[in-house]
Amino acid sequence: MRILFTGGSGKAGKHVVSYLLAQGHQVLNVDLEPLDHPGVDTRIADITDAGQVSDVMQSYANLGELAPGTGVPRFDAVVHFAAIPRILIRPDNETFRINTIGTYNVIDAALKAGVRKIIFASSETTYGICFADGARKPDYIPVDEDHPTVPEDSYAMSKVCNEATARSFQARSGADIYGLRINNVIEPHEYATLFPDFIHDPDQRRRNIFAYIDARDLGQMVDRCLATDGLGYEVFNVANDEHSVDVTTRELIETYYEGVDQIREMETYETFFSNRKAREMVGFAPEHSWRKYVGATAK
Ligand SMILES: NC(=O)c1ccc[n+]([C@@H]2O[C@H](COP(=O)([O-])OP(=O)(O)OC[C@H]3O[C@@H](n4cnc5c(N)ncnc54)[C@H](O)[C@@H]3O)[C@@H](O)[C@H]2O)c1
Repeated sequence: MRILFTGGSGKAGKHVVSYLLAQGHQVLNVDLEPLDHPGVDTRIADITDAGQVSDVMQSYANLGELAPGTGVPRFDAVVHFAAIPRILIRPDNETFRINTIGTYNVIDAALKAGVRKIIFASSETTYGICFADGARKPDYIPVDEDHPTVPEDSYAMSKVCNEATARSFQARSGADIYGLRINNVIEPHEYATLFPDFIHDPDQRRRNIFAYIDARDLGQMVDRCLATDGLGYEVFNVANDEHSVDVTTRELIETYYEGVDQIREMETYETFFSNRKAREMVGFAPEHSWRKYVGATAK
């Protein structure tokens, strides 16, 4: 597929772009920063500027596309990752403005250019736990896509708003628009730099409800969404099958989630951030467990 990818120069985006290239897709990265990756063209453009977004959506990706002489090709899909990726980087109102107007502009321009498949990055933070003031428990476990999304911080609010924006655009257009509620993204090198410190210290992972997603598996999820047509508007949790800590589900519940309603039986190390919907609807099957890279002790 010929894909326009926003935010491909970022932490998550560069791994997802790399995964998509390996599957044979062509990617035009749209970002404020360049991406030094062979085979990827980058257009420096600001997603908060509707004119710039509209322009790149209807432009050649590279000089090679001039060769056939058949005009500007249409993008087959848009993957939208560009954002301010958490609170406390920019002022709260700027985070909200950039993320919401940016997402509006990207989806609007994509649909007006005739794109019928749009995948956008939402976030685990929509469930209100990650950036809560103090320690907050889920309403129930495991957390699935039906869990309430009433967060209290500007970043997560922007993501809830983006989901509403996407849903409305889908209702009018009938295109496929899928939102990914992505858990904490782990790059391959972080198994060495981060995991040894926290696999035996679950306090550090409480705000992520102990979950994580390997950046390459996130690439697989995006690719599965590209390959799965006809779902209309959907949101999917994206996480590994297991916790990011070497502690059992039962022990974590006893320590952190006393009194929280458990809606079904769970496996010994099964994540509280349920990825069942993604598994069942698009065939997501994460391959990169931290246990392959860190040298686990308990299992
Ligand atoms: N990293 C995580 O753990 C995580 C978890 C859940 C959701 N997400 C979401 O995934 C996406 C990618 O996150 P990330 O961690 O790679 O963030 P990142 O900050 O590393 O990458 C974001 C990219 O967007 C670009 N960008 C920002 N503002 C822009 C603008 N106005 N116009 C064009 N480009 C702009 C940045 O230059 C950057 O390259 C974001 O939407 C984020 O909210 C990330």
